[in-house]
This record gives sequence, structure tokens and C-alpha cells, in this order.
Amino acid sequence: MADEVIRVESLFKAYDTPAGPFPVLKDVNLSILPGEFVAIMGPSGSGKSTFMNILGCLDRPSAGRYILSGRNVAELGKDETAALRNRTIGFVFQGFNLLPRMGLADNVALPLVYSGIGREERRERALAVLDKVGLGGYADSLPNRISGGQQQRVAIARALANRPQLILADEPTGNLDSHTGEEIMGVFRALNDEGITIVLITHENDIAAHARRQVRFLDGRIVLDAPTQPQAEASPC
Ligand SMILES: Nc1ncnc2c1ncn2[C@@H]1O[C@H](COP(=O)(O)OP(=O)(O)OP(=O)(O)O)[C@@H](O)[C@H]1O
Ligand SMILES: [Mg+2]
Repeated sequence: MADEVIRVESLFKAYDTPAGPFPVLKDVNLSILPGEFVAIMGPSGSGKSTFMNILGCLDRPSAGRYILSGRNVAELGKDETAALRNRTIGFVFQGFNLLPRMGLADNVALPLVYSGIGREERRERALAVLDKVGLGGYADSLPNRISGGQQQRVAIARALANRPQLILADEPTGNLDSHTGEEIMGVFRALNDEGITIVLITHENDIAAHARRQVRFLDGRIVLDAPTQPQAEASPC
């Protein structure tokens, strides 16, 4: 289909190690449409982050095709790949990766510097996305003055600054307590309701339950790809 955000065909990835190539992804096929909310699950070492790094154009497959937003990434040069990544994808990681000596608005505006957007518009956009994640009043606070959940909100705001079509998040609630993790999932859900495509890695079933589709890896292969099952409601009495 022409309008897929992500299309992966017969994807293989092997890492070069002193002992020879170490296969990690084995014949992975996946399509993701605009507006989907996908949880990637699977045991440690099953290849989730390797797959996410390829989706984010941070790493290249050993074989197979990756089409991002209609473009075959293998056919793009380094600068073209970086430009496509910049305008298409926002990244959120487990560690919030904020620069400690920079105020929150400046942290959020950083990706816009690389997009060549002027200072005034950078500030305006940073304030708007901080507002969106509920931190409008904290523009000039330093990252160590706010909680972990708030820091992850800032990281989400930073991911949104370039107005991406797609958010890739690798264990975004991994460093948060379960209550704060639920709050962060509320932010992702609201963004998804606005039409942003979200692909998120998690180990936790409760977190994955917020997604609409679950893809499970085992030993480098997709072993399950299904809509999220509605969770059983607790009985009122
Ligand atoms: N740069 C690398 N060089 C060699 N092997 C690697 C490299 N990165 C990852 N691996 C190996 O590839 C396999 C898959 O790793 P990956 O990080 O993708 O797993 P994961 O599913 O994200 O695991 P986790 O849930 O622990 O984050 C593991 O066996 C890992 O040790
Ligand atoms: Mg991982």
C-alpha cells in the first residue's frame, strides 16, 4: 500500500563479531499504517532494539528492504537519510537524555537547530509542545529540578518539536514507577488520537495494553502480530 509509514520486507540483520556474523533479525516483515499505535514486545535479546534502530535509520539492515514514508532508505545517501529521519521521526528513549545545563525549552528546541529554524520560531514551538505535555510553566527550569515523569514528558515534547509523522519509543516507561508510566502512556495515547503513528517497545503487558496492536519478537522473528485484546474489567462486586 502506498501510504504505509513503515514497510519492512524480508529484513535480516547480523552483527559482525570476532566470532563471525551474529544473526539477530531473521526474515522480519511488517507494515504500519498512518495512525497506528503498535507495541513491540518480546524477551530480552530477541532483537527489539535492533529492529527499532533500523526503523529509526540509526542502523542498516544486512539484507531486505526498509521503506520509510514511501522512501527506500537503502537508496538514500547519508544526508538524505538524516533529513528524512529528522522530518519524519521523533525519538523517545528509556533514559530521558536531556542536557543538564540547558533549560527545558532549549532542550526541546535543540532538534530544530539542526532543521535550520530561527531562534524565535524555535522558542515558540518549544513552548507550544511543552504546553501540550502539561509543562507549559516550566520552560526555563533545569532538567534536574523536575521529576522523572516530567523529564520524560520533556523528552516527548522534544520528539514532537519537528512535528513528526512517527514516534519511535524504546522502553519509554522503563525508568518510571507504574503510576508515572501510566501517565506517560496517557500522553502517547493523546498524541495517537491526534493521528501521530506510535511504535513503542515495552516489556510490560500493562504498558502494551495501551497500544492498539501488539507485535511480539522471539529470537529475531515476529511470532505474533495481533490487535490488542481488551483487558478484562474487574467485577464491581
Ligand atoms: N552492537 C552489537 N554487536 C553485537 N551484538 C549485538 C549488538 N547489539 C545487540 N547485540 C546482540 O543482539 C541481540 C539482540 O539485541 P537487542 O538489543 O536488539 O535486543 P532487545 O530485544 O532490545 O533486548 P532488551 O529487551 O534487553 O533491550 C542480543 O543478543 C544482543 O546481545
Ligand atoms: Mg532493547
